[in-house]
Amino acid sequence: MIFILILSILVLWIVYGRYKNRHKRKLAGLCRNSQMSLPVIGVAHHFVGTDEDRMIALMKIGREAIKQGGVAGGWLLNTLMVVVADPYDAEEVMRVSLRKMDGLEITGDLIGNGHMFAQVPIWRPRRKAIAPILGQKSMEMFLETFTRQSEVMMDQISAHSGKGPFSISKFITAYSMESICETSLGIRTDIQNNPDHPFLLAFLRFGKMFVARLMKPWLYPDFVYKLMPYYRHYKKQIDILQEFVRQVIVAKRLKFRDFENENRAECDQLQNQPDNKKSFLERLIDIGFNDEQLQEEMLVLILAGADTCTVGASFTAVMLSQYPEVQDKVYTELRAVLGDSDRPLELADAGQLKYLEAVIKETLRLYPPVPAIVRMVEKEFTLPSGFKLIPDVGVAIHIWALHRNPTFWGKDAEEFRPGRFLDTNLKHPAAFMPFSFGARNCIGSRYAMMSMMIVIATLVRRFKILPSKGASIQKHQKCKKKPLRTKFDIMMRHVDGYQLQIEPRR
Ligand code: HEM
Repeated sequence: MIFILILSILVLWIVYGRYKNRHKRKLAGLCRNSQMSLPVIGVAHHFVGTDEDRMIALMKIGREAIKQGGVAGGWLLNTLMVVVADPYDAEEVMRVSLRKMDGLEITGDLIGNGHMFAQVPIWRPRRKAIAPILGQKSMEMFLETFTRQSEVMMDQISAHSGKGPFSISKFITAYSMESICETSLGIRTDIQNNPDHPFLLAFLRFGKMFVARLMKPWLYPDFVYKLMPYYRHYKKQIDILQEFVRQVIVAKRLKFRDFENENRAECDQLQNQPDNKKSFLERLIDIGFNDEQLQEEMLVLILAGADTCTVGASFTAVMLSQYPEVQDKVYTELRAVLGDSDRPLELADAGQLKYLEAVIKETLRLYPPVPAIVRMVEKEFTLPSGFKLIPDVGVAIHIWALHRNPTFWGKDAEEFRPGRFLDTNLKHPAAFMPFSFGARNCIGSRYAMMSMMIVIATLVRRFKILPSKGASIQKHQKCKKKPLRTKFDIMMRHVDGYQLQIEPRR
């Protein structure tokens, strides 16, 4: 009897689900996709396996979208996913859909209502307040931090000079983390000289555990995750990160208060210093953020800024090791701008390093740290290609595929040719979007470009970068020179761990 009851409920539930999804099923029928799709799970099985398998699956679906004229799609478990590799369609999606992918709410454990993954009503006012603090006017202050921190990094890696292959990303991680802590919180952490710094370790451990959870949707509900034996460890990392930032905020507030009580002049000086000399934290205090909002947004900036810059700069260093002729051109340009001098780079110099900028952009084109982003459709709209999207459909903007779409990048789209950013205009502004596009794009793109340019320029000035021996080859890619093997967790990374060698230049 009970069995029949359960069976009837199940049948009714399936029938209701199919009825509710009838419009999506109709849309799914219009999504062309020659990849194998299974009942119930759709294309999800392609993404099972190692991080490298996942990247290969992501690349295949991207190529499929290119093959199908820019749009493909299929069911990913119970979500209908439309994959876009055409910039006209991508631009429209980014304009109309601001809601992020379901499931990312688990970031709330660390960043609460931090604007990066927040619902639109919370995101909008915070973004408006925060975006200007990362604008062009603050670049001079950032540059001073980047030049100083990149020198520290060079001292660190010099121990590897002429000593064979090593992974550069560990050093760039410490450089990026120390720089972002200094510019956002306004403190010197000395992380580069202290690889066991609790904040750095907690950040790395949290990242690993977060990615592992993200890949297992059944662990999303808090009540399930809290039952896991490693939950305590996860919570501990969050506590360390939040407590570190909280203490900096408390100290900053106290400092303002102490100054007010004891030394009015010093307090005025601190508060009246120009905006471009203030840390992100001080500027958000000026705007009137409360302590909780400050903690959330500081963690957002650190979380969003550290790993992405590390991946971008590490890939660039590896590409320079693989393309000596490109590296020579970068070095020649640096000498043309700076001559023989050892002086640190200034803002005006950075503006002249056009080829270096092109090298970084070309690396971000072929190896975008964020290879795909997902938006959830909230209201019905039609893409320029004629494809009609309906509410609750997921749209994956396939940045990796957009960057290799031959219609917009030509026949040599797979080749590493930095000159294309100097000799050819983009065919569409959204054809190149490593920092996303539209209202919810990256607010740290200028900061990131400057951070990566300074660390790469300092590296090339001091050392010759050589390839590590035996770098492995990425399967399923056609290209004259061997492409790098990549993998995907929450970001795209190098399978071989960004191995390279360095030798002193002089
Ligand atoms: C190479 C480095 C970087 C890359 C490739 C990158 C890429 C991206 C991408 C693709 C998005 C959009 C995500 C989405 O739409 O779902 C994004 C958003 C964001 N990024 Fe970056 N980013 C980089 C560096 C930075 C830095 C240095 C910061 C801060 C200092 C930063 C702060 C943010 C924030 C706050 C958002 C959320 C913006 C919003 O939702 O309004 N990023 N980034």
